[in-house]
Amino acid sequence: MGLVTTTEMFRKAYNGGYAIGAFNVNNMEIVQGITEAAGELNSPVILQVSKGARAYANHTYLVKLVEAAIIENPQIPIALHLDHGDSFELCKSCIDGGFTSVMIDASSKPFEENIEITKKVVEYAHAHGVVVEAELGTLAGVEDEVSVEAGKEMYTRPEEVEEFVSKTGCDSLAIAIGTSHGAYKFKPGTKPQLRFDVLEECTKRLPGFPIVLHGSSSVPQEFVEMVNQYGGNMPGAIGVPEDQLRHAAELSVCKINIDSDIRLAMTGNIRKYFAEHPDHFDPRQYLKPARQAVKDMVAHKITNVLGSAGKAADLTK
Ligand code: G3H
Ligand code: 13P
Ligand code: ZN
Repeated sequence: MGLVTTTEMFRKAYNGGYAIGAFNVNNMEIVQGITEAAGELNSPVILQVSKGARAYANHTYLVKLVEAAIIENPQIPIALHLDHGDSFELCKSCIDGGFTSVMIDASSKPFEENIEITKKVVEYAHAHGVVVEAELGTLAGVEDEVSVEAGKEMYTRPEEVEEFVSKTGCDSLAIAIGTSHGAYKFKPGTKPQLRFDVLEECTKRLPGFPIVLHGSSSVPQEFVEMVNQYGGNMPGAIGVPEDQLRHAAELSVCKINIDSDIRLAMTGNIRKYFAEHPDHFDPRQYLKPARQAVKDMVAHKITNVLGSAGKAADLTK
């Protein structure tokens, strides 16, 4: 099916009560782990690249890795998306450079300025057949350079969403309902709870419109324990409960962003490998279990959280 935009993916996901996983990619093993899982499960998937990923791996390398994954998995649709684009220039560079979707994240700017920059990106993107995700509201944690203190996060104000979407023409909207980036999303001892009332209020005002959830790693405790057991130090790492993500996917959330769980799966397994094989030094030896762990984790998400297994077939209809 090849490289696609997210338009049809989201339409089918919205109507089918499931969501598409958007996984961050930074190297070959991550691309392989994600797409092997999606390919075997016949699931559509979004591969997303941050500004930091481009700085680390280089735009061309990442695009070519994704092209290779498409050749290896021709039966599934794959979208290539810019995660947290912070300027028109960055979005333009990705649009010109083969991405099918970009995010312009001007959520830290005042409302009118967010509209203005998002609109400019939408005009350029749509003229080039590319779709745009925008954001309203701010997540706690770190969004690239924008750091928001926990407890001071700003939930999306539902009364703003209609005006924002109609004035910008964006294709999907990321909202803040209590998730945050990274591995420390909730205080230990507190009950993690997303604000479904905010989500439902946004949905009412934007019927049929795809909503995006950032900061949606679950921070599986098996990986946190693995990291801590084998020399790491990540006390109190907590993520979003998977049943709440499943519920969001049944509602209007069509895209669920996951990066930290990939990092944890790899780091836990590499730490374990080093501890158990102190004499090994071939990167293929320790990257192999790390890639397998990414694949298993993504397969679990597709099957048990996103509900997108087998849905590639929907997109041929
Ligand atoms: O939202 C942030 C993503 O996890 C990407 O992180 O900017 O460190 O690549 P990064
Ligand atoms: P996590 O840190 O929860 O994986 O969130 C990733 C994300 O939102 C990427 O945009
Ligand atoms: Zn994000």
